[in-house]
Amino acid sequence: MPAKVISGKEVAGEIRDELKKKVAELNGKGVYPGLGVILVGEDPASVSYVTSKAKGCEEIGIHEETIRLAADTSEDEVLQLIDKMNNDKKFSGILVQLPLPDHIDEEKVVNKIAPEKDVDGFHPVNQGLLLRGEQCPLPCTAHGAQQMLMRSGNDPAGKHVVICGRSNIVGKPLAAMLMQKAKGANAVVTVVHTGAKDIAYFTKQADILVAAMGRPQTITADMVKEGAIVIDVGVNRIEDASKKKGFRLVGDVDYEPIAEKASYITPVPGGVGPMTVTMLLYNTVEAAEIISQS
Ligand code: GUN
Repeated sequence: MPAKVISGKEVAGEIRDELKKKVAELNGKGVYPGLGVILVGEDPASVSYVTSKAKGCEEIGIHEETIRLAADTSEDEVLQLIDKMNNDKKFSGILVQLPLPDHIDEEKVVNKIAPEKDVDGFHPVNQGLLLRGEQCPLPCTAHGAQQMLMRSGNDPAGKHVVICGRSNIVGKPLAAMLMQKAKGANAVVTVVHTGAKDIAYFTKQADILVAAMGRPQTITADMVKEGAIVIDVGVNRIEDASKKKGFRLVGDVDYEPIAEKASYITPVPGGVGPMTVTMLLYNTVEAAEIISQS
């Protein structure tokens, strides 16, 4: 039987509806979540991401400001701006769109954001809290993947989750999240990466397989166990002359044959992608609530 498709659009819509209610409730208490976004330069993909973040904020009723800086803005100016935003009550969340131009040290910039306003969950303090299983903003894509599992009735508790990819943004935080003794977690987690001699040996054992390598259609059907739940985090452009833009988006898994074998699967596009911005909105709202209570 073909796999059930877990729609990121649907799950994201559900969470956005909940967030709208939460924002109205916070507003009633005089708490106004706000997101400050810093964009340096005009990279088209970054401009597109920043636009969808602004739209998302508008949809759920939170204040948003995007500060657009020229590509030659100095590192110092960016750091000073973050400092100002850290002390500005209008912003419960601050996000610096990555990648930054080469002359700016990304690590320095991320480390400058106040951890309680770090809605990406990239600050080392938050990475440490996550590993310890303590309250912190969760990295948005990893959190989105977890929400898709939970909200499709696939609680990872007691399951063997195999994560392909060890990035700081997805693989590592997702492993840290799912291994915790906590609701929506308590899984046995294996992280597979290019150092593995036989990747398929591990992927074939997965009850839940997460592909987050950033390599198009690399997981093939022979690498997947019958009935597995497959979460595809990859978003890759591949050439396609039949498309107006000259490319199409594919994930890290070979979708059609795997959909014949898996019990659940996330599509690309329309899977984990729409969840990332939604979980950013979630973190912005949650940060406002936490800051208001401190
Ligand atoms: N660039 C691409 N994805 C992201 C993201 O999730 N956060 C930030 N800050 N930059 C990005």
